[in-house]
Amino acid sequence: MTAPTVFVLSGPNLNRLGTRQPEIYGSDTLADVHEAVGREAERLGLTADCRQTNSEGELIDWLHEAVDAGADVVLNPGAFTHYSYAVRDACAIVTTSGRSLVEVHLSNPAAREEFRHTSVVSGVATGTVAGFGLQSYLLALRALV
Ligand code: DQA
Repeated sequence: MTAPTVFVLSGPNLNRLGTRQPEIYGSDTLADVHEAVGREAERLGLTADCRQTNSEGELIDWLHEAVDAGADVVLNPGAFTHYSYAVRDACAIVTTSGRSLVEVHLSNPAAREEFRHTSVVSGVATGTVAGFGLQSYLLALRALV
């Protein structure tokens, strides 16, 4: 049997991990995150399809693709978390199709600026993991199995 695929999607500015505000996001690069995710997924009997985009439309297209593929999703929506109803609606398409979607954040947005306290995604996500750096992604994978 082939391992079920999980889409692991990261939104805007996350391609700058490692050098972007390391005091908040840590020193791991996105390549480090994807490598650790790939290893953890394999350990859990999953295949991780890891992608990052700075484009809202592309992220939405990938969420539709996950639905069509019948894949669960781990999503770090970056700043889209706080205002993108279009990303929220696409996440709702995933969860109402019967798939799981775990919202992840490296930092803990609830402990940061006021505008980060709102997530328009959380209300349609299966669950949220925030504040554990790279580990947030790995915990999200574990939550799926
Ligand atoms: C983030 C938190 C968001 O507020 C921020 O805009 C990001 C990253 C996180 O992983 O902690 O880009 O999603």
